[in-house]
Amino acid sequence: MLKAMKQFPDDFLWGASTASYQVEGGAHTQWSVWEQTNAEHLAATEPKRLSWLPRQEEIQPQMSDPANYICGKGIEHYERYETDFDILQQLHCNAFRFGIEWARVEPEEGRWDELVIGHYRGYIAALKRRGIVPVLTLWHWTMPVWFTNKGAFEKRDNLKYFERYAQRIADEFGQDMRYVITLNEPNVYASFSYVIGEWPPQHKNVLQGLKVYKNLVVAHQRAYAIFKAVNPDVQISVAAQLGDTRAKSPRNPANRLVVNIAAYAWNWWFLDKCRDTMDFIGINYYFTEYRDWLGRIKNPKQPVSDLGWYMEPSGVGQLLTTVWKRYQKPLLIVENGLADEHDQQRQWWLSETLKALEQVLAKDVNVIGYLHWSLLDNFEWRYGWWPKFGLVSVDHTTMQRTIRPSAYWFADQIQKTRSDL
Ligand code: BGC
Repeated sequence: MLKAMKQFPDDFLWGASTASYQVEGGAHTQWSVWEQTNAEHLAATEPKRLSWLPRQEEIQPQMSDPANYICGKGIEHYERYETDFDILQQLHCNAFRFGIEWARVEPEEGRWDELVIGHYRGYIAALKRRGIVPVLTLWHWTMPVWFTNKGAFEKRDNLKYFERYAQRIADEFGQDMRYVITLNEPNVYASFSYVIGEWPPQHKNVLQGLKVYKNLVVAHQRAYAIFKAVNPDVQISVAAQLGDTRAKSPRNPANRLVVNIAAYAWNWWFLDKCRDTMDFIGINYYFTEYRDWLGRIKNPKQPVSDLGWYMEPSGVGQLLTTVWKRYQKPLLIVENGLADEHDQQRQWWLSETLKALEQVLAKDVNVIGYLHWSLLDNFEWRYGWWPKFGLVSVDHTTMQRTIRPSAYWFADQIQKTRSDL
């Protein structure tokens, strides 16, 4: 149990994160199209591929069911957002990260859906009415099918479509925003969709992956300029997937070198290129990773989450310190969490994380907020519905929301830091 929570400033942003596609339901994107042709295949192959997972037996029936791989109605957040924001408020959160779904806003090239824009206007107002700061994400991997049919971010020339979308959103909501995230995890998207080839469009082509990655740098820079022109005060960043990468044998110089190269390629390359177009650094932290001198991952076997991910939540402290030293910009954690259906490890994870945050704040590392991934159980991309990341569990049939015990604990911790409550 944390005692004091003294280090957190009054205006610290406390909250949770979501992504439009994973919660809203009913969007027609390149992912929804891909799911339709891949669900059967995933149901037939995933149980074997993931046979090593800790709760494999329990999860097996879901993994083997093609319906697990269809986002479909999502968790109907598009319709139920008022209820979800009430929960957020009940949990004492004062910030919330959400996504705008490009495919809804511009379902056909150049045709804007005014009803959808109106929906997001109401959505943002509903957050503000509750005293919750909206953190808007422009792009969280999903796109209109007409855009992916043109080759999406594979072509520099296609950036004009993204810019036009960014301009429209900036014109509509730029004035209302304090924080905007242009892109979610460009490194993960470029590698999973273009190098490893597990996600649509499933190209396994390193050169194309690099091209996409570079185009995303430019996409961010242009979106930054677009938003700044509308509102010079808006604070802009990306949601960067950053790992706390460590040498398995820290005394071995070869090991340290390999780890530094890996960290540069994964963590710093993109941020270095965009450092002049970032007002803060948005950080998604999930992993502390130990690598040997050949770059192979050599993590301890325990503890792991339901997804089998090794968990060392306190690693966020070292990561924040490193990012702060490197960029000297405010740091906002915009994702952090674990898949834990039975809520056995989430409180421990949160407690370790908050301790690490207190420690770095005490050393004047400028962390301005912590947004947990996720507010609600949601559609976990290729894995589908079985991984449960929510502070709030969602019954996928009734759509009933139930606050998990760890979330109540988290809310208590937040309450201790907020003098305005
Ligand atoms: C992504 C989320 C995802 C989470 C858990 C992050 O990389 O931004 O969309 O659900 O990780 O895997």
